[in-house]
Amino acid sequence: MLDIIVRQARLPDGRGPLDIAIKEDRIVEIAPRIVAEAHQEIDATDRLVSPPFVDPHFHMDATLSLGLPRMNASGTLLEGIALWGELKPLLTPEAVIERALRYCDLAVSQGLLSIRSHVDVSTAPLVGVEALLEVRKQVSPYIDLQLVAFPQDGLFRAEKAEKNLLSALDMGVDIVGGIPHFERTMAEGARSVVRLAEIAADRSLKLDLHCDESDDPMSRHVETLAHETTRLGLGGQVTASHVTAMHSYDNYYASKLIPLIAESGMNVVPNPLINITLQGRSDTYPRRRGLTRVPELRAAGVNVAFGQDCTMDPWYSLGSADMLEVAHMGVHAVPMTSREAMDWAFTSVTQNGAVAMGLPDPTIREGGPANMVILQAQNPIEAVRMKATRLAVIKHGKVLVRTAPRLAALDLPNRPATLDPANYAPASPEPKT
Ligand code: FE2
Repeated sequence: MLDIIVRQARLPDGRGPLDIAIKEDRIVEIAPRIVAEAHQEIDATDRLVSPPFVDPHFHMDATLSLGLPRMNASGTLLEGIALWGELKPLLTPEAVIERALRYCDLAVSQGLLSIRSHVDVSTAPLVGVEALLEVRKQVSPYIDLQLVAFPQDGLFRAEKAEKNLLSALDMGVDIVGGIPHFERTMAEGARSVVRLAEIAADRSLKLDLHCDESDDPMSRHVETLAHETTRLGLGGQVTASHVTAMHSYDNYYASKLIPLIAESGMNVVPNPLINITLQGRSDTYPRRRGLTRVPELRAAGVNVAFGQDCTMDPWYSLGSADMLEVAHMGVHAVPMTSREAMDWAFTSVTQNGAVAMGLPDPTIREGGPANMVILQAQNPIEAVRMKATRLAVIKHGKVLVRTAPRLAALDLPNRPATLDPANYAPASPEPKT
């Protein structure tokens, strides 16, 4: 007796319709028609069944704190950091846990089941660390939550930040973080990259730096990070997050840099929602976009995964744990509008995020984990376009979420009242880009 059969699903690679059989926490068979009994059947006819969404860059210690103790009036990164500094002394573990758990509810409802969250370790006591370690434990049946020890105020700029970072790692935080562009000088920033890479290597931990989240074309810490990654042989254990300054680099320098990033094997995580709003704030017009060079990084073979970064916090007042919204913004902000690139945008918030986080292969396959999202869309592009309803979310073979589909409700003669409003195929298989 099977636990679940998902009937007539379409997969992100275009295969389908296929039945998917689930027994306990594994996918045991995928076939055009499975004749067997199951405790539960889910009709996925004309529905996309995908691996769950992955957010490789988030700040769960700050989430849902919007308005505490005041709003970010300028909308800049630097005021956000200052505002967070005002809020930090007021934080309690209980309040951080409560907000984080509320966010996790939202995340699960959106099929977002793997999250890498930075947690500020600049100042003691480590309230955020204590809180998110507890959250990680509580949500572990539902969400793979990785924590990054993040010295928000600078490893060397904030007194005792390195000591606090090491304490956080000792307490069980998974990953080494940093923010070289916020150190006092370029030289200090580069020195922080070297130090953090060595801490990661010594402890056999992953490294994920906020790197060059700036419009300054001379902010070039990703170069040092690529070099240290290669020197220490850290490869895919390393992630450069944001890397927005790359949009302002001289083209010649970028053409030298990108192969070094590819050679290092590191991941790059742009955050389109936040950076399209944070970057270019000091520009008049023309105003620069806030995204790194995604097509060029992809072409060089770098694993690029979009992250969300923030939801209702000192830096970003919107956000909804919706990685399709993130992919949608990425398509616009990069921009990348070919069918191939939009299809890739979906992959960037599923498989590529899993690669960046070092998670097991999440592909829907026989023998694979019974973790999936059933979307009200026929294919990945339609999912991105519609920010498709999550009809069902399954984790470890258990249905966590069921949502009714959005259906047309016009009551007109001779016309069904159950049309799927998402369902329009393009007139041409390859529209102009
Ligand atoms: Fe961030």
